[in-house]
Amino acid sequence: MRLYIIGAGVIGRTHAEAANKLSEPIQLRVADTNPNALTMFCEKFPEATSFSSVEEMLSSEAAQHDDIVIVSTPPMAHLDPTKLALESGRHVLCEKPLAMSVTQAKEMVQIAEKHNRSIGCCSVRFKGMPHMETVKNVIRSGCLGDIYHVTFVNKWERSRSGIEYQPTSRWFLDSKQSGGGVLMDWGPYDFATLNDILSPDKIEINAAWIAKPITEIDPSDIPFDVETHVSAFMTYNKDNHPIQVHYERASCAHGEGYVKAEIEGTLGSLRWTPFDSKQPVFRRYDHQGQIVEEQVETGPRSEYTIFDNPLLHFYRKVKGLESHANVNQQALNNFQCISSLYSVAETGQKQTIDMAQKGVTI
Ligand SMILES: NC(=O)c1ccc[n+]([C@@H]2O[C@H](COP(=O)([O-])OP(=O)(O)OC[C@H]3O[C@@H](n4cnc5c(N)ncnc54)[C@H](O)[C@@H]3O)[C@@H](O)[C@H]2O)c1
Repeated sequence: MRLYIIGAGVIGRTHAEAANKLSEPIQLRVADTNPNALTMFCEKFPEATSFSSVEEMLSSEAAQHDDIVIVSTPPMAHLDPTKLALESGRHVLCEKPLAMSVTQAKEMVQIAEKHNRSIGCCSVRFKGMPHMETVKNVIRSGCLGDIYHVTFVNKWERSRSGIEYQPTSRWFLDSKQSGGGVLMDWGPYDFATLNDILSPDKIEINAAWIAKPITEIDPSDIPFDVETHVSAFMTYNKDNHPIQVHYERASCAHGEGYVKAEIEGTLGSLRWTPFDSKQPVFRRYDHQGQIVEEQVETGPRSEYTIFDNPLLHFYRKVKGLESHANVNQQALNNFQCISSLYSVAETGQKQTIDMAQKGVTI
């Protein structure tokens, strides 16, 4: 089958590596407007056919039913290539965040549905990993009782994309190119994870804030206007049962960094490390008035890593197999969570997201 990569940067190269692990041979095409990026890509993947224009690549041959296009450009360049690729009759797997705005995300899904194609989002990197499936299985078993509270905090002291991480890609710092800061960068994974585990039919974002702590190495010669610390207080509802969720994410904070993901119920709690699949999962419960803590057995690790998962999941979806991919409405719903969180932080007005929504309306 054929895989078309738009954007030959850091993550475009990662997807090309993942393609080699699929269960059939892949013909690789790549397009980038930057000749240096194309050269670097082709040095690593000499089998790829390269193009300096997206239009030229997509019109170079007729679409086949299982063609996949990966859009791995910065967020401000997600919409146009996605539209072109869907209109050319191909499925599209778009990097996170799906879009710059809900309006853009809706447009993508509408075009996908019109052409009977799938638009997926790469935010599903962690879905299907053994530790995640273990968490879901423990919840389903009912041994936690009535779940009433979730803590989901990933607070790093210095890990800003475009500064400490991948300093060559300064676009991360400019909201006109990235759409936002740490929430646009990591929020897609956070919400894909939370929504997978809790499968809500409605999410209420009751309160939220964003902040941009200042450091002595903040660049002043380029636009740097994105948040690096964000938090929200949400109510996840499933079958009219509310779960209160404390969400926090930081790539720069002066407070102490820590990671804590914990689900609390009336009969027990569960603690895990969402973005480090090698860490154990712990269950705690009461025995005769004393807390008992046990490590929960997780299933065997597969040969696929978090870097392979977005393409692997989407490939399975396109092939009609069982899959952890988030496509069309589900991808849109997850993006809606991020967008609504920004709105609540800005306006102070609570927002509700209907996660059971089917079909797209603008
Ligand atoms: N770097 C990471 O670790 C990482 C991880 C997961 C997801 N992502 C996401 O992947 C996307 C790309 O990030 P990256 O780190 O690979 O960026 P990057 O800066 O390394 O590469 C982006 C590439 O896109 C090309 N490009 C820009 N506009 C284009 C256009 N209109 N047509 C064709 N090519 C164009 C650029 O020339 C560049 O080569 C972003 O949405 C990002 O959030 C990045």
